[in-house]
Parts: sequence; C-alpha cells; structure tokens
Amino acid sequence: DISTTLAGVKLPNLLFNASGVCCQTEADLKLMVESESGSLITKSATYEQRDGNPSPRYNPLPGGIGSINSMGLPNEGYEYYLNYAKNYDYSSKKPLFISLSGLSLADNVKMCEAFVAADLPCVLEINYSCPNVPGKPQMGYDFEAMEHSLSVLAPIINKPFGIKLPPYFDIAHFDQAAAVFNKFDNLAFVTCINSVGNGLAIDFETEEALIKPKDGFGGLGGLMILNTALANVNAFHRRLPGKQIIGVGGVVSGKEAFLHVLAGASAVQIGTTLKEEGPAVFARVAKELSDIMIAKGYKTLEDFRGKVKTL
Ligand code: DHB
Repeated sequence: DISTTLAGVKLPNLLFNASGVCCQTEADLKLMVESESGSLITKSATYEQRDGNPSPRYNPLPGGIGSINSMGLPNEGYEYYLNYAKNYDYSSKKPLFISLSGLSLADNVKMCEAFVAADLPCVLEINYSCPNVPGKPQMGYDFEAMEHSLSVLAPIINKPFGIKLPPYFDIAHFDQAAAVFNKFDNLAFVTCINSVGNGLAIDFETEEALIKPKDGFGGLGGLMILNTALANVNAFHRRLPGKQIIGVGGVVSGKEAFLHVLAGASAVQIGTTLKEEGPAVFARVAKELSDIMIAKGYKTLEDFRGKVKTL
C-alpha cells in the first residue's frame, strides 16, 4: 500500500510529476491522467501567458547524472489552468494540484482570488523558487519577502495549501525558513526541492554550454541533487510539526523514492526522470517501491516515514 494523504486529500499512490514536467498543456496533462501517477500538478502559471526562454533550454547531462534547464516559465497563463481545474474530473481518484508562480505579489493575489472564487477541490502550490527568469531573484532566498507574501496569500487561500521551495544549504537557513512557515496554520505542506539553481553544464568536445539562456546557467535536477533534496526534506520534516513534506529531487527508481519517505516525505514528485523516460516512470517506480517495502517488511508508508536512523 503506497497510498498517502496530502493536505487532506487522498492519493492512491504517493508519486506524481514535479511541476514543470509533462504539465504545460492539456495534452501533457492527459498523459499524466492516463499514467499510473497518484496525482498531477500543472506547470507554474503566471498571470499572463509566456513563451519562456530561447531553446535549447533543457538538456540531460551525460551519464544519467541529471539535467539542466532554464525554461523561463513558459506557460499558458493562469486562466488556462483555472479552466482546466474547472473541467477536471475530481471523481477520478487523482487529486489535482495547481502551481502558481506570479511575477509579483499582486499577480499571486489575483490568481489566488480567482481560484478561491471558483471554489474547486484542487490544491494550490505557490512557487517561491523559479531560478530561471532573468532579473527575478527566487523569493525562497528572501525570508522577509516570503513571510510578507505568505501573510497576504495564506488568508486569501483560507484552506490547506503548499509552497515550492528552493534548496537550502545552511542550517541557519533551515531554522529561519521553518520559523516563517510555522506562522501559517493553513500552510499544509512544503515541496522541496526545486532545481539547484544556476549550475553550468559544458560539453567537453564542443566546449559549448548545454543550454542557450543566461550564458548557459540553469537549474540542476536528477540524481546529482538527490542528497541535497533528502537533506531539505528531512530538515523541514524535523522543523515543521503538523505539516507535510513533498520530496522531489533525484528519484530515478523506487530506491530513491523510498529514501525520500525515510527522510520524511509524504509524497514524492519526479522531474528529470519523467522528462527522460516519459509517464511510464510512475508504474515502474511504484512497482520498485512496493517490492522494496515487501522485502523490508513494511506494509504502509507510515511504517517508515521519517524514520531515518542517525548514528
Ligand atoms: C521554471 C523553473 C523552475 O524551477 C520553476 O520553479 C518554475 C519555472 C522555468 O524555468 O520555467
């Protein structure tokens, strides 16, 4: 049994897409619905439609170690995702998550108000961690700005919601971020981590950057970020009693999904491996995780969630 409950909604299994992968258009989202995922989340929406950065803007890294991207928030504009959410079949057993990434607090307010007015059973994930829009620093690294934003948005949303976080690398930052998040009762989950921002990948033979935007700088994902992801999941699991963690980063098989749960994750999202393998990844990873649980004698995720042993 790999079912889970997030923000009060039941997922038949804990796996779904990381926002940004296979979720920009209705055609993408249809593939997610038809997959063996336990849920789905839409591409981060801005108030207006965006084309994003010039291509190539995503590439896998050689050797299966991960990926680099600087998409630049290409999306259809929030009304498209609101319309999708209005027409979504909520009896399908797969809950729908909606990612919002306004370029300003005013835009986030307008988008949240529109979703609240529609009174839908979808769950909002506010994205504080897009590293790829030139001139727009990630709010996740500005604790005062994030607290101000949450103090405005949490009462508007007025029901359980989540936030997407960048990776943190310092214990003091885990402490400061958690102190902010614990002030908001209806902040039900944190999703960590977004890509490790502003890496640079260079092809050894051609001596060229692997992506075009921002002189080749982009967010890193995949196996190379697994341990940073596990640290962030566990750091917030320890510091946010009563809240849940969605783990994302470095899941290539059931083993990494298992480690995320052991670190404290209540659900697990898959980005790079979904992009590389396609939606068949969900059936594969679900089976691998179930086999690991049988081999270890665990019946439910609660049997081992957060139970990483320290020395
Ligand atoms: C994009 C990347 C992100 O990591 C994110 O959180 C939102 C958008 C992007 O480049 O499109």
